[in-house]
Amino acid sequence: MTMPAATLLKQAAAALLAPLTGVGEAELAARLECPPDETLGDLSLPCFALAKTLRRAPAAIASELAAQVNGQEEACAAEAAGGEADPAPPIRWRAEAAGGFLNLRAAGRGWIEALLRQAESPALGRLEDGAGKRVVIDYSSPNIAKPMSVGHLRSTVIGRALANLHRTAGWDVQTVNHLGDWGTQFGKLIAATKRWGSREAIEADPIGESLRLYVRFHEEAERDPALVDEGRAWFLRLEQGDAEARELWAFFIRESLKEFQRIYGRLGVEFDHLLGESFYNDKMEAAAQRLREAGLLEESDGALVVRLDEQGMPPCLVFKSDGSTIYGTRDLATALYRREAMGGDKLLYVVGAEQTLHFRQVFAVLEKLDPTWEQVEKVHVPFGLMRIEGRKMSTRRGKVVFLDEVLDEAVRRALAVIEAKTPDLPDKEAVAEAVGIGAIVFGDLRSRRMLEIDFSLEEMVSLDGETGPYVQYTYARACSLLRRAAEAGTGSGAERGDASGLEALGSPAARACLLKLDAYGEAIRGALREHEPSVLARYLLELAKAFNRFYNSGRILGADGGGETAAKLRLTAACAAVLSHGLGLLGLSAPSRI
Ligand code: ARG
Repeated sequence: MTMPAATLLKQAAAALLAPLTGVGEAELAARLECPPDETLGDLSLPCFALAKTLRRAPAAIASELAAQVNGQEEACAAEAAGGEADPAPPIRWRAEAAGGFLNLRAAGRGWIEALLRQAESPALGRLEDGAGKRVVIDYSSPNIAKPMSVGHLRSTVIGRALANLHRTAGWDVQTVNHLGDWGTQFGKLIAATKRWGSREAIEADPIGESLRLYVRFHEEAERDPALVDEGRAWFLRLEQGDAEARELWAFFIRESLKEFQRIYGRLGVEFDHLLGESFYNDKMEAAAQRLREAGLLEESDGALVVRLDEQGMPPCLVFKSDGSTIYGTRDLATALYRREAMGGDKLLYVVGAEQTLHFRQVFAVLEKLDPTWEQVEKVHVPFGLMRIEGRKMSTRRGKVVFLDEVLDEAVRRALAVIEAKTPDLPDKEAVAEAVGIGAIVFGDLRSRRMLEIDFSLEEMVSLDGETGPYVQYTYARACSLLRRAAEAGTGSGAERGDASGLEALGSPAARACLLKLDAYGEAIRGALREHEPSVLARYLLELAKAFNRFYNSGRILGADGGGETAAKLRLTAACAAVLSHGLGLLGLSAPSRI
C-alpha cells in the first residue's frame, strides 16, 4: 500500500468534479489549489481554464458547479441517513462560488476518518514513484588525510536526506561514499611521514597529524626542491604497487576513516558502498579506450581532451601531458561503473556548487560517447556555502575548526537548554545529543540548498523558532500528551472507535492539522522533484505550528471525557506519527521526551 498521487482530499474532490466538468481526475487534482485563506474552504478550483470548453464565463461555471455539488450532496445525505453507521463513511462536500473559483469544504466526518486512517496506515509516507528503478547517490565523499569540511558536512546531510526520500518513494537506493583516496598528495604525505612522522603520532590524531605533515612538507619544499621529487617518486611507487607505499597509503585511509566514522556515527549516517577514487584506477584505461574508439580524444598541448565547443564549455581533460589521469577521468570511469555495473537508472552527485562545471563536462562527455546516456537522469545537486558562527572552515592553513568541535558545541548548548527547561529529564545527555545534532542537521536543511547559510548555534538549538529542536519538541509534547492520556486511562481502543467525537475535529485548528497531515505525500514528492530536502523541512515546521495551535486551542484531556477527547487524541497521535516519520527522513531522531 502506498499514498495517493495527490492529497486524499484532492483525489476525492477530483472524483466528484470529473463527471461535472468533463476533465480527467488527474488533471483536476493538479488544478485544485489550497485557498489563500482557510475560511474560504479546504480546496479551490479555478474555473478559468474551463471557460473555453464549457463556453461560459468562469464565474457562471463556478456557481453552476457549486449548485450541482450541493444538490448532489443533499441527495446522498438523505440516502445515507437511513443506513447503518458506515465504518468508512464517504467524503462529503459543501461548495460555494467566489468569482471564478469554486471553493469546496469537506463536510461531515467521512473526510476526517479518511485522513486519520491515512496517517495511521503503515503506508504512511510511502510512494511508488520510484518502483523498479535504482538510484545511485554519491554524497559526503571527503578526502583522506584532510579534515572533513563544512562542505562535506552539507553533502552528508543533504545526501542522506535525499537517499531517505528516494527510498520512501519506492526507489532502490544505493549510496556511495566516493572517498578522495588517490592523488599526488599521497606521495607527499608518504615522503613527509618517512622523514618526520611516526605511526604513533598519526594513530593518536590521524587528520591533525597528516595536516601538520602536509603543511611542513610544503614549507620545507620551498627551501628544498629535492623534496618535491621525493614526493613524486613515492607517488610513482604507490602507482606501481610498491608494497611499502601501498601499506602506508592503506594505513592513512584506515586512520582517516576512523575519524570520519565517528562523525558519521553521531549523525547516524551509513553508506551502502565505500568506493573511493582509487577503486577506479584499473577502470580508467577501459573508459579512455572507449573515448578513443569513439574518436573523441584530441590532443591539446600534449594533453588528451574531449572538446565540448558545441556545448559551450571548455574541453574536458582526460590525460595530462605526462599521461596521468585526473579527478575528471575518474568521474568518467565512475559514471560508467555506476550505470553499467551497479545498474543505476539515475545518478545523483551531492557536491558543492564550485564543481558545477566539472559535472556539466562529465555529463556532456558521457552523452557524446553514447547518446543513450541522455536517458539516464544525471543530476549534480549543488549547495551553497555554510559559515558556522561567522567562521569559514578552511583546511589549507593552520586555523581549522573541526567538525567534531562544532557538533560538541551544539550538544553542549542543547544540554543547557534542556537543563533550564526540564532539569529532571531522565537520560539528559542522550537527549541533548539528539537535539544538538538535530539542530545542526535541520539548520542545514531548512533553507533552499543553494542559499548561503550563516549558521548560529544559539538560534538553531532554540526550542522555538524555525528549528529542528522546535519540531522535535513538538513531537515530544504530543508524546507526553498521549502518555498522560494512557496513564489516566482515556482514549482507549474502545473509545477510539467512537465516531461521535470526530466532528469536533472540524474546528479551524484541528481542521488545519488534518489538512497538513494530508499534504505529507506532496511534501515528499516536492522535495524529490527539486532534490530539495528543505521542502520537507518547511512542511514539518508548518505541521508543528499547526499542531501547537491545535494543542493550545482548547482542552484535549478531559474535553468531554469521551468521544471528543478520543478524537483529539487520535489527531495528536496522527500528528506525532507524521512528525517523527518526517524527521526520520531528514535524518533527525525524535526523542519522546525533551
Ligand atoms: N572528494 C571530492 C571533494 O572533496 C568530492 C567528490 C564528489 N564525488 C564525485 N564523484 N566527484 O571535493
